[in-house]
Amino acid sequence: MRTVHVGLVGCGTVGSGVIRILQQHREDIARHQGVDLEISLVSSRTLSKITALGVPKDRIVADWHDIVSNPDIDIVVELIGGTGVAADVILEALKAGKNVVTANKAVMASRGEEVFAAAEEHNCEIGFEGAVGGGIPIIGPLKHSLTGNEIDTVLGIVNGTTNYMLSRMNESKLTYAEALAEAQAKGFAEADPTADVDGLDAAAKIAILASIAFNSRVTIDQVPTQGIRSIAPMDFQYASRLGYQIKLLAIAHKGADGIDVRVHPAMLSKDHPLADVNGVNNAIFVHGDSVGNVMFYGEGAGSGPAASAVMGDIIEVGRHVLYDIPPIVGCTCTDQVPIKDPGEISSRYYMRFYVADEPGVLTQIAQSFGDCDVSIASVMQAPSSSDCAELIFMTHHALEANIKKALDKLFDLDVFYEFGSLIRIEEEE
Ligand SMILES: NC(=O)c1ccc[n+]([C@@H]2O[C@H](COP(=O)([O-])OP(=O)(O)OC[C@H]3O[C@@H](n4cnc5c(N)ncnc54)[C@H](OP(=O)(O)O)[C@@H]3O)[C@@H](O)[C@H]2O)c1
Repeated sequence: MRTVHVGLVGCGTVGSGVIRILQQHREDIARHQGVDLEISLVSSRTLSKITALGVPKDRIVADWHDIVSNPDIDIVVELIGGTGVAADVILEALKAGKNVVTANKAVMASRGEEVFAAAEEHNCEIGFEGAVGGGIPIIGPLKHSLTGNEIDTVLGIVNGTTNYMLSRMNESKLTYAEALAEAQAKGFAEADPTADVDGLDAAAKIAILASIAFNSRVTIDQVPTQGIRSIAPMDFQYASRLGYQIKLLAIAHKGADGIDVRVHPAMLSKDHPLADVNGVNNAIFVHGDSVGNVMFYGEGAGSGPAASAVMGDIIEVGRHVLYDIPPIVGCTCTDQVPIKDPGEISSRYYMRFYVADEPGVLTQIAQSFGDCDVSIASVMQAPSSSDCAELIFMTHHALEANIKKALDKLFDLDVFYEFGSLIRIEEEE
């Protein structure tokens, strides 16, 4: 059996995990899978981090170009992250005829078409299981085991940071700021949490999942995204009273009129399997016409889980290299299904806001909503101070465009003080 040579670019959290797995399991993998894999060259920004992992000095190179251009390298593994140098590594490796494995959701969700075109043109394979759900296998199942299905729904809790924060706000009534500080102290949130709390990380992931599930390209810029900054502990109390749990959901539905894809906080029935996914865990719920409902659950981030997903791709691609098997599944975006206008999406809404506590206020609000075709299902009122009332509105189904118009009218009312939160109700189709 010849050795399959792997070149690793980027040796941080995930890259170091990949090195550790191969140090521990190289012989087992060769015995079980019939592939002898060697990390023959490694490059990263801080070379001392590679040395500290026990990688021999003669396998460390300062410049990633030396990996991509090396004729002995069979698979280039990109684990730098971001859309800058990482995209160059991926595309240049493919153009040099190398197979590529990456965990880079940012590149796959924004430049997936270009990456797949380069892979096809140069007869190479691209594996990216680590890009969504960390250690949870989801891209493989969507591309292999579930392909006999017409999939119409993918719902994901795909960001561990925000799921941890929302879980802590629910359990211990922490404010958003307290939950963020705690997540940062435990290493679950970055110093700059923007990509997580504003939903951008989840948007990249659902763009990738929707593209595969619906066989039609969805890019990150097509995903309307709302984060969790406005969620407050009292929203969990109201949600609970109404029978719901609050989650940051990455949502993709396909219907006869197109694809509805978005990321936002949502109220889910407490009976929904995703409602019990707490802490840093991730889960992806899929509905297919034959399989029915399936859910994939596990650790969505971390060195071990992410490296596990990357390693699975390296082994599979390694087997293809060794036995000269052409890539089994490349790009599956064969269709061009339209993406629905978000304004035309109909949901029920929960809204919390503060108004003057005086007679006639409810009539004015009801009038503003009614003028925009938004029908109110229920109202709850809690006195906040002597002249201010906290109001909770639940609407019947309303178009998002009409909700926006109704809110603009509400903000113009003299009796309106402050907006709290807006959460859509996610219902089973
Ligand atoms: N961490 C997770 O749990 C996780 C889960 C799933 C997917 N991913 C994805 O996996 C990828 C890697 O993430 P990570 O968490 O491992 O990131 P990380 O810890 O920041 O590691 C990135 C590594 O790349 C190196 N690097 C940065 N710029 C470079 C350049 N121009 N040339 C060569 N090396 C460079 C960094 O060097 P320094 O050591 O000098 O900083 C660092 O070692 C990302 O695409 C991420 O989205 C991560």
